[in-house]
Amino acid sequence: MSVTDRCNLRCTYCMPAEGLPWLPRPEMLTDDEMIRLVSIFVRLGVTQIRLTGGEPLLRRGLPALVERMAALEPRPKIAMTTNGVGLERVAGPLAAAGLDRVNVSLDTVNRDEFQTLTRRDRLPDVEKGLAAAAEAGLLPVKVNAVAMRGINDHSVADVLQWCLDRGYELRFIEQMPLDAQHSWDKTAMVTAEEIHERLSRRFTLTPMPASERGSAPAERFLVDGGPATVGIIASVTRPFCRACDRTRLTADGQVRNCLFSQRETDLRGPMRDGASDDELAALINGEMWVKAPGHGIGTAGFSQPDRPMSAIGG
Ligand code: 5AD
Ligand code: SF4
Repeated sequence: MSVTDRCNLRCTYCMPAEGLPWLPRPEMLTDDEMIRLVSIFVRLGVTQIRLTGGEPLLRRGLPALVERMAALEPRPKIAMTTNGVGLERVAGPLAAAGLDRVNVSLDTVNRDEFQTLTRRDRLPDVEKGLAAAAEAGLLPVKVNAVAMRGINDHSVADVLQWCLDRGYELRFIEQMPLDAQHSWDKTAMVTAEEIHERLSRRFTLTPMPASERGSAPAERFLVDGGPATVGIIASVTRPFCRACDRTRLTADGQVRNCLFSQRETDLRGPMRDGASDDELAALINGEMWVKAPGHGIGTAGFSQPDRPMSAIGG
């Protein structure tokens, strides 16, 4: 669930330097509307809610929203994907409100590379945010990294060592064609295989049994015999669509059956026009039944969705 499309970073694989035209406030779901929709999703069988953005911490009153979600029956697990800026201050309040876990996006531990990649000099804030998350018990603390050629592709093993030293669980994600500026290029993308090869120069990676993977997108490896692990998410070169059990809700109340879907179903309009819970549930089910068997990235028929990643959530 994306709680805002705004962001305070400008990662090159996501947004242009000048940012994007943000959703106008009246189009965004209110807290009451979000809780109503989440309660319907929970009734339909959703067991985990992941708060995403843009940057979810930019939504005002996030702890209160989390607290209301945690009060639903049956209580869903509540996780958040954040860039970590500002997390230092709110990790404690969010954990107290019922947040269970966080994924922090951190592509490099080199300050210059961080600035090149995110166009902001905020690495120290993210480091403090991660420490605060661990301190607040949002465990296991996970780190998401995207490798970009010519920026941080040669330093992926440094990120792993840094995470191992702090007990964070690192996962690399292949860059996907979701940037607003449509600059994704398959031939330039750093592949899962390449990340594996670079990590293997410094660490011994042992594949974990596929049976442990379930619907999780990451292929996981024990690092130097374990217990620490590293994940690699081969979203493009080895898609895992068949096992995907996610559904996505945008900050303006559209349900999407896939990151790459060319369609979405509006829940906000019907909800504001007085639709019942059953009617909204039927709209959600209708969208999910037309989920495609795969995203087809890199194939001839593929075209990128109009909505960029920052307006969908991870
Ligand atoms: N490809 C892969 N991962 C991306 N993310 C954002 N844009 C892309 C992209 N084009 C990552 C962020 C964050 C999560 C929401 O998805 O770094 O960790
Ligand atoms: Fe912001 Fe996340 Fe996009 Fe980076 S990837 S600009 S942190 S929304």
